[in-house]
Amino acid sequence: MFFSLQVVELIKKRYSCRTYLNKPIEEDKKDILKSYLSSVKTAVFNTNLRFGLITATEEDRNALKGLGTYGFIKDPPGFIVGAAEDSKYSLEDYGYAMEKIILFSTDIGFGTCWLGGTFNKSNFAAKISKNDDEIVPAVASIGYKKEKRSTMESIIRWTAGSDNRLSWDKMFFNIDFETPMIKEDIGEYAIAIEMVRLAPSASNKQPWRIVKDKNIFHFYLQRTKGYERNQKLFKTVDLQRIDMGIAMCHFELSAKEMNLEGKWEIITPQRTNQLRDNEYLVSWIGH
Ligand SMILES: Cc1cc2nc3c(=O)[nH]c(=O)nc-3n(C[C@H](O)[C@H](O)[C@H](O)COP(=O)(O)O)c2cc1C
Repeated sequence: MFFSLQVVELIKKRYSCRTYLNKPIEEDKKDILKSYLSSVKTAVFNTNLRFGLITATEEDRNALKGLGTYGFIKDPPGFIVGAAEDSKYSLEDYGYAMEKIILFSTDIGFGTCWLGGTFNKSNFAAKISKNDDEIVPAVASIGYKKEKRSTMESIIRWTAGSDNRLSWDKMFFNIDFETPMIKEDIGEYAIAIEMVRLAPSASNKQPWRIVKDKNIFHFYLQRTKGYERNQKLFKTVDLQRIDMGIAMCHFELSAKEMNLEGKWEIITPQRTNQLRDNEYLVSWIGH
C-alpha cells in the first residue's frame, strides 16, 4: 500500500483537527502532498476527480465563516480542495477519494478536518478553476496539529458528540436488519467493519449501515431525520452521501491490508432494499 503506517493505525490516529499551529507547510512537504493529490483522479464509481492544495490566505479563512458550516477552524495554513464531475455517484466518490487523501496526510504528520458545505461559488472553487460541469462539495483544512484544543474546538466536539460512536448492533447486521452482526463470527472482516465505525461523518451522524450475507457486505445509507431540512437551510450538498464514500474507503483499504480481496458491485439485494428507511448503495463481494 502507499502509506508508511498501517491503514488501521492511521484511521485510529486521525481526528478532526480544528486548532493548528501557526506554522506554514514547508515546500518539500507541499511537493509530497501535491504529487499524491495529482495521483488521485477517480474512485470506485469512476467519477472524474481532481484535487489541489491551496495555501490559506486570510480571505480563504474568512470565506469559511459565512458558509454555515458549524466548524470554527483556527489558523489552518492550507486547504485541500477538489472538484468532482457532476454525475450520479460524484458525492460518494468524492468522499472516498478525499478520505484517502486525509489518511495520506495523517501518515505524513498533518492534522485535517473535513468541511462540508457548498463551495461551488466560493473562493475555493475559483482556486481550483471549477468548470460548469463540476462541483466542489467539501474541502479539508490541513496543517500541523496544536496539541491543546481551543475552547471552541472542545465545544464543537462536545456538540457533535465526536468522541461517541454508535455501537455495532445499531449499524451492522447479519442477513436482515433485525439480526445484529456478531464480531466473533466474521473473522478479520471485524477489523474492516470497526474501521467504518471509526470513520468521520458530517455532524458525527454515522449514517452507514452494513448487512452481511455470507461473503457479501451490503452498504446502506440511513438518513438522519431533519438533516435534509438543514441541508436546504444551509444550502449544503448531500453530506451523508459523502459519508458513505468515506465508509467505503475505510472498509476497502483496511480489508485489503489484511489481504481480504473483493470488489464493489451494485447488486440491489431484494431482501433488504429500502427497508427501515435504508437506501441501498453498493455491495462488497468478498472472494
Ligand atoms: C462530510 C463531512 C463534513 C464535515 N463538515 C464539518 C464542518 O463543516 N465543520 C466541522 O467543524 N467539522 C466537520 N466535519 C467533521 C465531523 O464533525 C467529525 O468528523 C465528527 O464529529 C467525528 O469526529 P472526528 O472526525 O474527530 O472523529 C465534517 C465531517 C464530514 C465527514
